[in-house]
Amino acid sequence: MRIFLSPPHQTGTELQFLQEALDSNYLAPTGPMLARFEAEIRERSGRANALALNTGTSAIHLAIRHLIDHRHPREDPRRPLVLASSLTFVASVAPAVQLGCEVRLIDAEHESWTMDPVLLSHALQEARSESRQVLCVVPTDLYGQRCDLKAIIGLCEPAGIPVLSDAAEAMGAKDLEPLSPRPWAEVYSFNGNKIITASAGGALVSDDDLLVHHARKLSMQAREDFPHYEHRELGYNYRMSNLLAAVGLAQLQKLDERVAQRRIVFEGYRQRLAQVPGITLMPEAAWNRCTRWLTVILVDEDAFGASPREIRKALEAAGIESRPMWKPLHAQPALAHLRFYDHGVADTLFQRGLCLPSGSALTDANLDEVCGIILGTR
Ligand SMILES: Cc1ncc(COP(=O)(O)O)c(C=O)c1O
Repeated sequence: MRIFLSPPHQTGTELQFLQEALDSNYLAPTGPMLARFEAEIRERSGRANALALNTGTSAIHLAIRHLIDHRHPREDPRRPLVLASSLTFVASVAPAVQLGCEVRLIDAEHESWTMDPVLLSHALQEARSESRQVLCVVPTDLYGQRCDLKAIIGLCEPAGIPVLSDAAEAMGAKDLEPLSPRPWAEVYSFNGNKIITASAGGALVSDDDLLVHHARKLSMQAREDFPHYEHRELGYNYRMSNLLAAVGLAQLQKLDERVAQRRIVFEGYRQRLAQVPGITLMPEAAWNRCTRWLTVILVDEDAFGASPREIRKALEAAGIESRPMWKPLHAQPALAHLRFYDHGVADTLFQRGLCLPSGSALTDANLDEVCGIILGTR
């Protein structure tokens, strides 16, 4: 049977929650399951507001749109400036680019593979020297690992720059030292490949009432509070459906268990691969207990005797899915024109990295099989 990279892991209660949603007849982007789902996300995140949406990408889009409407001076002819991680999925920055922002990308640092605060500091200084106001900074958590948010917020807070934390890949991760202040807003994804899923979905959480109120309105075609349909601004159709919220709610009950299982999977790989010359595993940064959403290895081809590509091909031939790391955004043809604060980390990681099957239902026998094939490529 095929081994997938990160398949959904059902809890057994999805049907029960779905049945409840069907019985209520709220087959709509509103309803009691959606309200319960949002209440639980709010509680888990410890934030004042949570808004459930059809995707995580929509959450990023709405947050940036809100900032453009409320923070970007209308008289400024220059485009709003956004600083974002380069080593990530395209959805982290596509909404800002599509909304007409100038995005500048920041390389990763060695300790966590996430946004380098030193390079961010250079980018902020440069923006200051150009008299450019920064609309927001978007640091992206990577494969379950939190960014160095303490350092990043420490740079942004004194300048009043909002931090929009893209935590799509790190729901369930723990900051070991509570963040104070916390990021202005955070984004989660419940896409089918995430640690828990609603099959599709996302959420925006924040203590900023104005943001979440505005985002909620924008997510429902920006309808004003009138009996008829009145629109003073234009919005989107981005709300999560009550049925998908039922699936998400069932999944949310097991989030901590799923994190523990993913960490056990990582540990299984560590035991089998850590001593092998030429292979290293993704580090866990000191400031967090990451989720190990995906286990990632780095392969030094000379020391190991095979390349990440050869390993991926051998796994594929055995019906096992693995994937190269994110190709950094500065290297994407659609984004190659963006300014990039570079010190070569993301490019090296992309060349050497390989994401291994990491599903929370993976067995010891699965791990033996995957690692047997990896070692057999030498
Ligand atoms: C870092 C990151 N940001 C944003 C997203 C977008 O989430 P969604 O697929 O729910 O739109 C994803 C994943 O899908 C992601 O990995």
